Amino acid sequence: MVARISPVMLTQAQRYQIIRKYAMKHILEIKDLQELARRRVPKMFYEYANSGSWTETTYRANEEDFKKIKLRQRVAVDMTNRSLESTMLGQTVAMPVAVAPTGLTGMQHGDGEMLAAKACEEFGIPFTLSTMSICSIEDVASVTTKPFWFQLYVMKDREFIGNLIDRANNAGCSALVLTLDLQILAQRHADHRNDLSAPPKLGLWNLLDMASRPRWCLSMLKTRRREFRNIVGHVKGVDDMSSLAQWTADQFDPKLSWDDIEWIRKRFDGPLILKGILDTQDAIMAAKTGADAIIVSNHGGRQLDGAPSSIEVLPEIVEAVGDKIEIHFDGGIRSGQDVLKALCLGAKGTYIGRPMLYGLGAMGQKGVTLALEIIAKELDMTMALCGEREVVNLDRTNLYHGHKTGR
Ligand SMILES: Cc1cc2nc3c(=O)[nH]c(=O)nc-3n(C[C@H](O)[C@H](O)[C@H](O)COP(=O)(O)O)c2cc1C
Repeated sequence: MVARISPVMLTQAQRYQIIRKYAMKHILEIKDLQELARRRVPKMFYEYANSGSWTETTYRANEEDFKKIKLRQRVAVDMTNRSLESTMLGQTVAMPVAVAPTGLTGMQHGDGEMLAAKACEEFGIPFTLSTMSICSIEDVASVTTKPFWFQLYVMKDREFIGNLIDRANNAGCSALVLTLDLQILAQRHADHRNDLSAPPKLGLWNLLDMASRPRWCLSMLKTRRREFRNIVGHVKGVDDMSSLAQWTADQFDPKLSWDDIEWIRKRFDGPLILKGILDTQDAIMAAKTGADAIIVSNHGGRQLDGAPSSIEVLPEIVEAVGDKIEIHFDGGIRSGQDVLKALCLGAKGTYIGRPMLYGLGAMGQKGVTLALEIIAKELDMTMALCGEREVVNLDRTNLYHGHKTGR
């Protein structure tokens, strides 16, 4: 006879386990994680992630343009022993996907950067920590055993920037990602309407909103990391930088030029990646700097609204400099199929921003792992159905008519 278990006989922990199991079964794509994050993360921070600048045309185009690329189906090909393993900057990666740098990640979930970095380390892909992170370089180094990557914004205070690079060196960061497309901060309406700040201001609406997200509150109560810890306490005269818009307007360097790249490259001990390249002329300039890679990126549609999607410009940039510098890609990836398309069009590696943030906001470290698993599974199945067994062999021939139509 099978003993019947009544829900009242279960402990709270067991009940949570059952709910979690049920929820996991129904999380099948990145959209599911996004929906969960929308419910669990305070509006101010969910909308910070889930928005682009001004009309959000470029933000939407990043995703929509992927849908226009058709795959080439092949049949009766041996699909056994498939491999997603590849390299980015000579480093072996479990799949050619890295986590992109995102600011305020520790506001999507307490200790967010530390959790995401651990998920990436376990999965075997690079994690990139943003200058504008909540957890510091040292915080992330304290919970990881392998090197992570560090993203640099150049500010007017060059002494601080030099020290920041030294801190990345001391923490053993194995690549420096220099972001070039945010000398000034574009306007994202949602952030203005929500009066975005870190930590959040404790007004009535914010308090009510936060109170309706108990998981988030609990994760924040468990940590003391609630401000920009790469910066606060490290820059002279900066004790309040809760207003991101004001702080970037005051501190980011609008005079940044190609000449600055030389000293930054010399100061950092490892490879340099230039992020935010969207134009062939800039790609040619970037290749001449001696940097090791570029990221074709429009900052996830958060800077120049009206610019083309990243995937639209990828082929022409590959054509211009593909034989001179390693090309990475980000913007609009929401599935393993999108990763595959970017690889087919010539990217050696890709990055995900929002899919990681949705996973983190939805379920903390487990959510990031789940996001990576979803993308890996979709990439693997798509690759097989395209008749390929190794991710490193993907190229334009895996796209319908080589994706040449309409160009
Ligand atoms: C919430 C958020 C914060 C971001 N913060 C940074 C940052 O601090 N530094 C940076 O170089 N890029 C930043 N980015 C851009 C990402 O690195 C990446 O280019 C973009 O997210 C890729 O697009 P996707 O989100 O569609 O994957 C941010 C993106 C988002 C969504």
